[in-house]
Amino acid sequence: MQPVDPRASRRNFIKYLLASPLLAGAAEAYAQEGELSLKWEDPMMWAPQDAGQLVATPQAAQNVFDLEVVAHKNVPPAHWGYLTTGAEGEHTLRANRADFQRFALRPYRMRDVLKVDTSTTLFGEKLDSPIFICPTSSNGAFFKDGELSVSRAAGKMNHLQMLSTVATYGIEECMKERGSPIWFQLYASNSYDIAKSLVQRAADAGCPGVVITVDVISSRKNETQARLRKLDKRNCLECHATMNGGTPSNKKPNYSKITPEMWKDVPPGTGANMTWEIAKRLRDTQPKMKFIIKGILDPQDAVDCAKHGFDAVMISNHGGRDDDGGWSTIRALSEIAPAVNKKIPILIDSGFRRGIDVAKAVAMGATAVGIGRPYLWGLGSFGQPGVERVLEILNTELRTAVGQAGCTSLKDLNPKMIRT
Ligand SMILES: Cc1cc2nc3c(=O)[nH]c(=O)nc-3n(C[C@H](O)[C@H](O)[C@H](O)COP(=O)(O)O)c2cc1C
Repeated sequence: MQPVDPRASRRNFIKYLLASPLLAGAAEAYAQEGELSLKWEDPMMWAPQDAGQLVATPQAAQNVFDLEVVAHKNVPPAHWGYLTTGAEGEHTLRANRADFQRFALRPYRMRDVLKVDTSTTLFGEKLDSPIFICPTSSNGAFFKDGELSVSRAAGKMNHLQMLSTVATYGIEECMKERGSPIWFQLYASNSYDIAKSLVQRAADAGCPGVVITVDVISSRKNETQARLRKLDKRNCLECHATMNGGTPSNKKPNYSKITPEMWKDVPPGTGANMTWEIAKRLRDTQPKMKFIIKGILDPQDAVDCAKHGFDAVMISNHGGRDDDGGWSTIRALSEIAPAVNKKIPILIDSGFRRGIDVAKAVAMGATAVGIGRPYLWGLGSFGQPGVERVLEILNTELRTAVGQAGCTSLKDLNPKMIRT
């Protein structure tokens, strides 16, 4: 048998990357940086996706990317495209990962870090971990039980969880599966009455808070999703036919109390007309609930969030799915944290894949860090145990990162440790 020259196979693989329209930007970066100086962390980029190399159990996964490739194999191409896609040229999607390299965490030594505590406090409540489950739509597309499995995992592992307006299961069902409260994420639509009714439903279900998503504005262009959809041989209309002129499907249970009359003459979309005034009106309908604004990237917007009395600001670019300006959330945090100056808690998501990413964000001033795709990889690979494994991996990595930084708790992480 001919011995395999690893350099030759790497060269071939790079040639393959350069030829692939899906990976064009990544391949370009790889070629520019030089073969030796940049090793992709994400195995989707460099490891052969040979079924024999996929992990067979959640426990076998070393990092969250090991579950990504299993989910890729399990989830049909159109749904995988929906999960994985960014917007347009995916510059924001890539920046969300790449920009963690702009911020190094300088560690302390000669401190007793035998015991490390990674709990945090949000709105006076102690959370075992700062890592939370972001709202993601249509989880039934990735695993049969969808959000029910996610809720069970989040409940068992005691992680804060936000449920999407357009989840496959309703807030009441998910809360029952979880056994404790879930936050409700609001796509306000372009109608105040619909938004108010959704908020009321969340209040009736016992949600402690509402997360108003304000960053899905124009109709987005997700090219990876469009390309992968063409590979799917199933008839999409069998499931998606209930979309009616842009009105959300009645298969999305959180809309079940919204009547056809309420949808009449409402322009399609998730809330392009959202302003501070509308958000405040909604908030004032439920004085007992907390309200967070999700999708903030500008320091002044974040300061305004505090000024208008919202309970927290959530820095997010929707995981690079909506706009492609290339502004990562970790860079946004570096400007927003000093501007907000601890007036309200800062939550952040987009691109977090490692415990060290979480530690950096906490050092820079975040109270809690959300994950989207990673737990969907866990879900798509092994269902509930896959989600649990993702949380377990990230918590373990975080504990390591905090201890390695010479800190015994998240409170010890501070902005002085961050070097650019
Ligand atoms: C498949 C998918 C569906 C999503 N659906 C929603 C949603 O319904 N509401 C929302 O506010 N954000 C949604 N998001 C964005 C997430 O809440 C979160 O901001 C993002 O996934 C974080 O980035 P990450 O995937 O890189 O971790 C979705 C993200 C994905 C990947």
